[in-house]
Amino acid sequence: MKKQRKIIVGNWKMYPETSERAKEIFAAISRGVRGIKKTEVVICPPSVYLPIFKKSKSKIFSLGAQNVFWEMAGAYTGEVSTKMLSEFGAKFVIVGHSERRRLGETDEAVSKKVSAVIRAGLKAIICIGESERDVNGAYFEFLKNQIKNSLSGLRPADLQKIIIAYEPIWTIGKSYNDAMKPSDIHEMSLYIKKLLSDMYSKEIAFKVPVIYGGSAEVENAFSIMSEGQVDGLLVGHKSLVPEDFIKIVKAADVA
Ligand code: 13P
Repeated sequence: MKKQRKIIVGNWKMYPETSERAKEIFAAISRGVRGIKKTEVVICPPSVYLPIFKKSKSKIFSLGAQNVFWEMAGAYTGEVSTKMLSEFGAKFVIVGHSERRRLGETDEAVSKKVSAVIRAGLKAIICIGESERDVNGAYFEFLKNQIKNSLSGLRPADLQKIIIAYEPIWTIGKSYNDAMKPSDIHEMSLYIKKLLSDMYSKEIAFKVPVIYGGSAEVENAFSIMSEGQVDGLLVGHKSLVPEDFIKIVKAADVA
């Protein structure tokens, strides 16, 4: 099977605090990833910063948003639509991040958002992940339900427009020592592909990129992708440190 291009997604969360700093980080990353050939890089800044980066001509970079609403317009205070994000350059949208689920986002809302993203011609980066690992392996069932519910309503052809980001919540925002072990990541990515294969077909399932997130840093990026056999990474805190993020992208290019 043809090897997929690796995908490195930088989720800036609600950082940096000023647009000036955002410009500096973006410029440094842009310089650093020149020459990257086999890896797709997606930067997801806070949405209000998207217009600043829209003009970037880079073929390596794409822009993404961290959230969206499923309606196209209406009396929905505080929400933004897929069309609005698209106008300002977003090609991807992170949906169902655990930090949003913690604020009350349900699988049902995630499913509506995923459908809206795909209908708008954008790609959905769908986040799943258990909050803890129990000895009896209940997290397998938890993930299964999360995937089934978050993808409900998708047709087989829609799967070309999704990326599954597996982010075990207990590994987020720590250091590489606390990330999941590559062998466990491999097990989980196989499990996710098997679920998709049962829901759709093997052929479709194996084309859906599965990426890992949770304390991905320079030290573990290569081993997660090579031994863990995932299609890329969803990087949080290190996506704001240009020199580290650039090294992570370079690791993906050779993984
Ligand atoms: P960290 O890389 O900071 O652990 O964050 C992971 C994450 O939540 C990315 O979406």
